Amino acid sequence: MVDLTAPHGGVLVDRRVDGAKCQEWEFEESPEIALDRWALSDLEMIGVGAYSPLTGFMNRRDYERVVGEMRLADGVVWSLPVTLPVDQDTARALRPGRRARLVGAEDGVLYGWIEVEDVYAVDPKNEAEEVYRTADEAHPGVRKLFSRPRWRVGGPVWLLRESDRGIFQKYWLRPREAREVFRRLGWRTIVGFQTRNPVHRAHEYIQKCAMEIVDGLFLHPLVGETKADDIPADVRLRSYEVLLDRYYPKDRVVLGVFPAAMRYAGPREAVFHALVRKNFGCSHFIVGRDHAGVGNYYGTYDAQKIFLRFAPEELGITPLFFEHSFYCRSCGGMASSKTCPHAPEDRVVLSGTKVREMLREGILPPPEFSRPEVARVLAEGLRAEVQ
Ligand code: ADX
Repeated sequence: MVDLTAPHGGVLVDRRVDGAKCQEWEFEESPEIALDRWALSDLEMIGVGAYSPLTGFMNRRDYERVVGEMRLADGVVWSLPVTLPVDQDTARALRPGRRARLVGAEDGVLYGWIEVEDVYAVDPKNEAEEVYRTADEAHPGVRKLFSRPRWRVGGPVWLLRESDRGIFQKYWLRPREAREVFRRLGWRTIVGFQTRNPVHRAHEYIQKCAMEIVDGLFLHPLVGETKADDIPADVRLRSYEVLLDRYYPKDRVVLGVFPAAMRYAGPREAVFHALVRKNFGCSHFIVGRDHAGVGNYYGTYDAQKIFLRFAPEELGITPLFFEHSFYCRSCGGMASSKTCPHAPEDRVVLSGTKVREMLREGILPPPEFSRPEVARVLAEGLRAEVQ
């Protein structure tokens, strides 16, 4: 039987522990590291194998090669640093070869352990320039990086428990579970779709173009930390439900959530997003206009061009590139500059910021931009938020 796409690095990592093994660890005297929401989500994603082949937070060798060359120390392609920041006092208390407890900063809950391999300082400005292509603090990813301490602790982790997923629980499929679902459906080729937005007509169009050539769509919205003016994930979730219910064949789509933080690192994050979806079992991954971008930091197609720096077999997942798509009144349908010969005035194009403004005022974007059912859910959700 032909199986699903292999995980990145060949093996699906599983760093979960339970029961007897960690009972002793729970009571041992070991230093404590407080995890912010971003670090906690990274711990969970490493633990369940979403970041395979990573088995822990990056040590200095992996970190430096990832920042400089988009590869782990052993040469495997990896485009974003996944590191655990600690303040200086904590850094001083840590000893290589010893375990430290990983505790939620917000709730004080013990989520796991790290086996300390090394403790090192990073140069945030260099990281920003290499990874985000800017050191401008107005960039949300850069701002976040600069707000964290400079010390990092690297080493393999163990995940004891995951955080409460609340309303997202129903759609939380770990990589192993997603792979099982796809096998059960008899799918072999699956296209992954990352989004931090509601699914508008342009998203729907590129998803459906891709669905014509694969067995199924894995709609995989990111529901971890995003910037404050993005549409909240709970409102988005309702919009996905109504859209799938009305406009997609039920047996061709799986909806799952991706509880990781958004970095807004544009091109580098596009590669990261693709590799992670490969771990969930996807064979293909959609990269459209300005993927994971913010403001004007990246060229419209930079997140596509970056894939060409790697050999296809090093990536192991096929990126599907799409041009900026829109509804064209003269075509009478969705199109892109590859397929539509008409003038810009015929095209319904709205920026994300404009649409959010409209929705917050209770104005629905036109049906050529967003399905009316989706627009209504978003307007209701955002107005409830304002009140
Ligand atoms: S992202 O930050 O998660 O990439 P978003 O949710 O807007 O943002 O985009 C999801 C995917 O759809 C990305 O691959 C993006 O490039 C693509 N995309 C968004 N809007 C369009 C559009 N109008 N035309 C083509 N691709 C688009």
